[in-house]
Amino acid sequence: MMAGRFISLEGGEGVGKSTQLDALAKALEGRGLEVKVTREPGGSAGAEAIRKLLLEGEEKRWSPRAEALLFAAARADHIEKTIKPALANGTWVLSDRFLDSSLAYQGEAGGLGIEAVRDLHRFGSLDFLPDRTLVLQLPVGEGGLRAKHRDGDEGDRIGSRPPAYHASVDKGFATMAEKEPQRVKLIDASGSAETVTARLLYALGDLLP
Ligand code: TMP
Repeated sequence: MMAGRFISLEGGEGVGKSTQLDALAKALEGRGLEVKVTREPGGSAGAEAIRKLLLEGEEKRWSPRAEALLFAAARADHIEKTIKPALANGTWVLSDRFLDSSLAYQGEAGGLGIEAVRDLHRFGSLDFLPDRTLVLQLPVGEGGLRAKHRDGDEGDRIGSRPPAYHASVDKGFATMAEKEPQRVKLIDASGSAETVTARLLYALGDLLP
């Protein structure tokens, strides 16, 4: 049996990631692939427990280093319990966020540095990487802070950080696309949902059977 492929979908707040995750999963299933949709932080029982610790409570609940370690610990469990077993079964795994969120949020925006956070991943998960990482990006100012507030959602510990933090997150994703152009692709998230899904599929073209 062919091993499955591991795809992560990334982006700042409110770029339409959830809509695209559903649409992409359906499109892949339509091509006859078995698809498992998962998310970070979370995706396994242990990692979902850590998710609550990370996203609930006071913004200053964790120091930047403790926060990065919690994300790395959740990711190690997610990979071991959920992602690797599914891939071994020939399933395609589609994750709503993965390592590049830690590199962009904790590494770039949080000030720890992209390399320091990558080192945590080397230790925690032996540098296990997606086959492809698709980063949805909107022009500056069109992003999610507005979307979150529109929903009357106060946001979580991290989503509610100031605009400068989120601008820095976008910069982190762009840096990753420059560093690893084969794995990390920036996808224009403007236009109709159908158009964006078509861009995502195009960026997976060389992996599709
Ligand atoms: P969500 O809004 O996509 O559910 O993600 C939860 C929040 O956690 C979001 O604000 C991004 C943040 N996050 C990080 O800061 N680092 C990470 O490694 C991951 C996976 C998420």
